[in-house]
Amino acid sequence: MIPKTLRSTGITTKSIYSKGWIRSKSAVAVSTPPNTLYTTTPIFYVNANPHLGHLYSMLLCDTRNRWEKLNPRAKTFFTTGTDEHGLKIQTVAEKQNISPKDLTDKVSQNFKVLATDLDIDYDRFIRTTDQDHVKAVQFFWELMQEKGYLYEGSHSGWYSVSDETFYPETQIEPIEGNPGKMRSKETKSEVVYQQESNYFFKLSAFQDRLIEYLETNPDFIIPKTKYTQLLNELKEGPIGDLSVSRPSSRLTWGIPVPNDPSQRIYVWFDALINYITSCGFPNSFIRDKETGLFKSGNAWPATHVIGKDIIRFHCIYWPIFLMAAGIELPEKVVVHSHWLSDGFKMSKSLGNVVDPQATAAYYGQDSLRFFLMEYSNIESDCNYREDQFHFTRETIIGKFANLITRCGGSAFNIEKSVEYAKSGKYEQIDELIGKYSIKTDIEEVKLARDKLEMTANSLYSTMNSHIVQFDQSKAIGEWWSLVERANELFQTAQPWLYTKALKDVDLNAEDREALLTLQLYYTYLAAESSRIACILINPIMPKLSTMLLDRLNVDPTRRNADFAAIGSDLSYGHGANEKTHKIPIVRIPMRETNL
Ligand code: ME8
Ligand code: MG
Repeated sequence: MIPKTLRSTGITTKSIYSKGWIRSKSAVAVSTPPNTLYTTTPIFYVNANPHLGHLYSMLLCDTRNRWEKLNPRAKTFFTTGTDEHGLKIQTVAEKQNISPKDLTDKVSQNFKVLATDLDIDYDRFIRTTDQDHVKAVQFFWELMQEKGYLYEGSHSGWYSVSDETFYPETQIEPIEGNPGKMRSKETKSEVVYQQESNYFFKLSAFQDRLIEYLETNPDFIIPKTKYTQLLNELKEGPIGDLSVSRPSSRLTWGIPVPNDPSQRIYVWFDALINYITSCGFPNSFIRDKETGLFKSGNAWPATHVIGKDIIRFHCIYWPIFLMAAGIELPEKVVVHSHWLSDGFKMSKSLGNVVDPQATAAYYGQDSLRFFLMEYSNIESDCNYREDQFHFTRETIIGKFANLITRCGGSAFNIEKSVEYAKSGKYEQIDELIGKYSIKTDIEEVKLARDKLEMTANSLYSTMNSHIVQFDQSKAIGEWWSLVERANELFQTAQPWLYTKALKDVDLNAEDREALLTLQLYYTYLAAESSRIACILINPIMPKLSTMLLDRLNVDPTRRNADFAAIGSDLSYGHGANEKTHKIPIVRIPMRETNL
């Protein structure tokens, strides 16, 4: 029998409080409905302040989540947060001569501020010191114990505090010039020999089941290269069991093992469970009496977005913990590459980091978001280059913002161009193009118009096919083709030429109306392209696109995928061509930096 509540463990909320394991004010779990796109970032260690790499994971999730929300009927849930227990945090706190609690409060807040500054639209910021999380972890522990998956043993091996993991002999090497000291071959972090008694989890009992699961679910891990790599690793040899606790004498800053005060729960066991805490585990899961399996009545299962450094934890340990518990496996694990600076992985330990907040403060958050999404892909590492970023920003201004400032100029009238569309005045437009065009190649104009319409009307579904694969860069490439085609048409049709022709006092009424209709038609297509481009780039540049949609005076309820086709909104444009508008993004020189 599984204990219904944690009371049966003897660890009451009150006793946890009095020991100072958890913060007194903790987040309240939100209830989430099923059939929801649930996206998660890793929860980050609070040993040092956030850098561009952390922002990258947040952004991949945020843009995916915001993209989903473009569909007004979609349900979404998105979490990020901080991983606050463990030896790593305890050690850093000791070095800084502050309590772990003070350290975690301070640094966790910095991650939260990063998210706010960069418009990361999360639903919950989870901290592993949150009360509901501590309870969920202890519940999970007891469940494993009840099912017989935990046993006591003694353990010796090479432990990296920085990576919070043991490494086998084959994966370590001596540190040059530092006799007797060893480090991990992969991460270069120091390892120390540890011998202790602790609890083990029967990971090995699930190896075959996991292999089978992966083989029948080839899309479980993307990209494919990572899937293949992990599957091969799993098939190579026995994975062994996992040590899931540490003696309290060594690790004080950790969740106590239920009923055994001499042990604390291993930080990765604690951390991974955050993903189910956020959707209300255990209370919001229904346990089938006969099978013992949990049914999610909530947003679970999740799509996890992680860096390639933590693939083993998410693609071996986590699915196995869930299998053992009888909980559905995650929907997908999206493994992304790393941002480098000067050719090395940007990392807190190496100190070669780009400060995302200072960068956003200088250039604005939208262009930084855009750059990180356009210039990278999840498959291969990416070197941060300030000049590339500056170039991208200039292009946003020169091509995208400029399209809107052109058709929004005082020589044109967007509102009227939309009214003309509404009253069907463009129905015979090809005839007018043939008869009244000024200085333009008629066939060229028609071709440019056709290409533009095709691109605009299929853009949502084209971008969607890339974004569901977390290929934001390709989606942005498609988006650029709309902006480019709109500029091309404007340039080819030259609607400003009609202003002069319309000034001719000798024009008869019919000719005047024809010329005006042509000018309005080209204005309309530029405005429609701008409107659609703004709606579809909103997940990537939320602020800038909102300001531009405000300028076009698009109704806030019509800024979604239902209105992402030409002619789907015929109610905007009032005041768009007034002279009082400021340009929401302006050119600035490149910042002085050595990157
Ligand atoms: O591993 N480029 O936390 P962590 C891209 N607490 N992404 C990067 C990056 C870089 N240079 N550096 C870090 C932990 N990241 C655990 C996770 S989850 C249950 C527990 C991102 O602070 C990337 O997502 O070391 C990476 O996986 C994560 O930050 C590691 O953050
Ligand atoms: Mg790390």
